[in-house]
Amino acid sequence: MDAHTGSRPRLTRRGLLASSAAAAAGVLATRQAAPADAQAAPPVQVDGSAVEPFHGPHQAGIATTPQAHAVFVGLDLRSGVGREAVARMMRLLSDDARRLSQGSAALADTEPELAVLPARLTVTFGFGPGLFAATGLADSRPASVEPLPRFAIDKLQPRWNGGDVLVQICADDPLTVAHALRMIIKDARAFTRVRWIQRGFRRAAGVQAPGLTQRNIMGQLDGTANPVPGTPTFDRAVWAGNDAPTWLHGGTTLVLRRIQAELETWDAADRVAKEFTIGRRLDTGAPLTGTAEHDPPDFAKLTGVGFPVISEYAHIRRAHSTDPGKGIFRRVYNYDEGLTAAGHADSGLLFASYQADITAQFLPIQRRLAEADLLNEWTTPIGSAVFAIPPGCPPGGWIGQSLLT
Ligand code: HEM
Repeated sequence: MDAHTGSRPRLTRRGLLASSAAAAAGVLATRQAAPADAQAAPPVQVDGSAVEPFHGPHQAGIATTPQAHAVFVGLDLRSGVGREAVARMMRLLSDDARRLSQGSAALADTEPELAVLPARLTVTFGFGPGLFAATGLADSRPASVEPLPRFAIDKLQPRWNGGDVLVQICADDPLTVAHALRMIIKDARAFTRVRWIQRGFRRAAGVQAPGLTQRNIMGQLDGTANPVPGTPTFDRAVWAGNDAPTWLHGGTTLVLRRIQAELETWDAADRVAKEFTIGRRLDTGAPLTGTAEHDPPDFAKLTGVGFPVISEYAHIRRAHSTDPGKGIFRRVYNYDEGLTAAGHADSGLLFASYQADITAQFLPIQRRLAEADLLNEWTTPIGSAVFAIPPGCPPGGWIGQSLLT
């Protein structure tokens, strides 16, 4: 892949390896800690009947501990479907989500037996920019919920972009996900057409102890420096408050980027180059300036020969937000669709980023990464979609009620 387009600084693999070797001489001397996810862990029992709450101030599926399987579905409203029809559809889909997530069959469920093991199923709904126009609610669209500007690193394929309605379905069991998807699409069909379906996975439920950071398909611990659900920093970064339209309070926004990973050329890079690219160790996930995964990175630290230990172009330096309340919450899934037509690995990340405001939080980070990030050598965004995620609903209510009534 030639990822060097536009105005980005020219970073070649050869240059990277030379400078990484210089950095390595200064910093990679002695650490030999055990991988963070290989520490002895008690066996974890997986419970297919486990249930995540449906009702509440926020929709489930965001602060929820990520389930092993996900499907993201982008739907387009059929022509002529306006506000009343969308409200009807959301009542129906909310009822499906409530029942299925609690282990009950959906109304008119053709396979009710498939509903009895919810495996922590969550169904999360979002509204894309087109929904606001189609329902005559353009004035209620949160200003930042609009297609992202084009970045020089993007090679977007129309088949993965946009969408009027998002349905994000997550569970610890792939059959549960497939059944929920089928029920939701059945009930949405009269109102919408499927625009795209993107399936993702993380570590299978139970294979590692709870609370450990997952590894992504590139082999990195991914999610270390993420706001922690239930903390004031998370609440400030994720849930929309007074700066957002009233109907969105308690909701959030989602940026979903499909990012292809060049695994064959990544395989050709050595570990020093891979660690230098991110600014963290592959085994423990520790920053190159520390020894344990959660040591704070020291961006000012220099090697003996005067280079920054964490490169100016390392992913974590470019992505870091100095104000944690202006950060983003990453809840990423891997995808692996086999081989492309050209015979290359068709794998990468479904990069799902939740934040109160896309313009204030996601965009500055994405701009810095698009401008210069060593990781760009091996990753290419090929899909992009943005959604407002309405707040949750109390018993008797439905998702989207605060906007559509
Ligand atoms: C395939 C693409 C990507 C991969 C493989 C990747 C991988 C990683 C890894 C391994 C880390 C370090 C561990 C951690 O804190 O989670 C990290 C940190 C981070 N990434 Fe990415 N990332 C990707 C794309 C992005 C994108 C598109 C954004 C935002 C626009 C982003 C934002 C961040 C942030 C905010 C951090 C934490 C930085 C800090 O230390 O404060 N990443 N990423």
